[in-house]
Amino acid sequence: MNDLSSQDKKNIWHPFTPLEGGPEPILIEKAEGVYLHTPEGRKIIDAISSWWVNLHGHSHPVIAEAIAQQARKLEHVIFAGFTHEPAITLSENLLGILPQSFAKIFYSDNGSTAVEVALKMAMQYWHNQGIARKKIVAIEGSYHGDTFGAMAVGDRSIFTAPFSPYLFDVEFIPFPFANDEVSVIQKFRNIAESGDVAAFIYEPLIQAAGGMRMYSPGTLNQLLLLAKEKGIICIADEVFTGFGRTGKLLASDHVETKPDLVALSKGLTGGTLPLGVTAVSEKILVAFQTKEFTKTFFHGHSFTANPLSCAAANASFTLLQRPDCQQRINSISDQHQKFAAKVRNNSVVKEVRTLGTILAIELESTEKTSYSNSIRQRIYQYFLDRDILLRPLGNTFYIVAPYCTTNEQLSDIYAAIDDFLSELTV
Ligand SMILES: Cc1ncc(COP(=O)(O)O)c(C=O)c1O
Repeated sequence: MNDLSSQDKKNIWHPFTPLEGGPEPILIEKAEGVYLHTPEGRKIIDAISSWWVNLHGHSHPVIAEAIAQQARKLEHVIFAGFTHEPAITLSENLLGILPQSFAKIFYSDNGSTAVEVALKMAMQYWHNQGIARKKIVAIEGSYHGDTFGAMAVGDRSIFTAPFSPYLFDVEFIPFPFANDEVSVIQKFRNIAESGDVAAFIYEPLIQAAGGMRMYSPGTLNQLLLLAKEKGIICIADEVFTGFGRTGKLLASDHVETKPDLVALSKGLTGGTLPLGVTAVSEKILVAFQTKEFTKTFFHGHSFTANPLSCAAANASFTLLQRPDCQQRINSISDQHQKFAAKVRNNSVVKEVRTLGTILAIELESTEKTSYSNSIRQRIYQYFLDRDILLRPLGNTFYIVAPYCTTNEQLSDIYAAIDDFLSELTV
């Protein structure tokens, strides 16, 4: 172990990592494109975009330059009572891709907080109007982040168990698996008809941390139509799905009925700096457009709308709008579909799911399909030993690669998956 690694071990508490018995963190010195470089000269393919944040490859020169220029001009300024050009430009960029009903951008600094803000806005929407609607509805198996509100609307699991006495009550509808849709929609209808539902929060089309589980745009559309009919505020958590992951700029673009609030983060800055956005539609704004001070939305963080993050986001946005980026997204989507067709019938594979640039493989298992499935560590280590970073969700592993990943690099990842599946078969 070199000096830095032993200092890390002594000083640092890493996320989602047990303090005892967890693997040693790998020291990364630099990163470029799809590769993470170690000081010893290893080149690891980042096939999960570093927790799904990276869009255009690491250390992208266009984004790096935008951050550097911004750092020389204005690194940060309080965002209450002050504003700046990168945040204004970004609001224009984002409102340009959001559904037409969207009118304002509220900034924060990560995905959990973007969700937290959306929940608070939805709750205060009713409070400001003196209407007693308290219930929040979410989908079983969802993950919306690690802050308290986000945990409350997420799946209750080993991750949330220590905090369960402190999480507010939420009504969960079952996950709308194919063939279960009618009964799930009926359950939602029953809850919605109680009249006191304030908001419905969902990950559009795919539950990410919940195992890359996918459901149909048609089902989501029916849930949203029902919600709208009952005046329920619809919150789309696009923290994972935003910025092209599902093949379109937003997953909500696949669905006819639009949400009232959208949470964005992760790919927002191309994966370079932390930034969160809660996008707000006209409907929500109406409850806050008053001079009554007590109806203000009292929420803000020190680093709200950090100019460096906004500059990075604007640069990433420009790259995303380029035709070659959309071509890469389409090409990755096509390759994934071809590979999915190839491995679908493998006896160790329970299901292969693809949506845009996302490919997920769920393995057959005698254990329950869950994050704590014991094959998780074996899969992680198998690919890492071959210099490919995949971070399985239990017995489901997936590719969510940066859009700059070439066909050749994708083929290398597929080949390693083929080998792994053959190894499991024997
Ligand atoms: C759908 C979704 N919402 C919210 C979050 C939380 O985002 P963050 O980790 O930036 O707080 C995540 C993170 O994985 C996510 O996948």
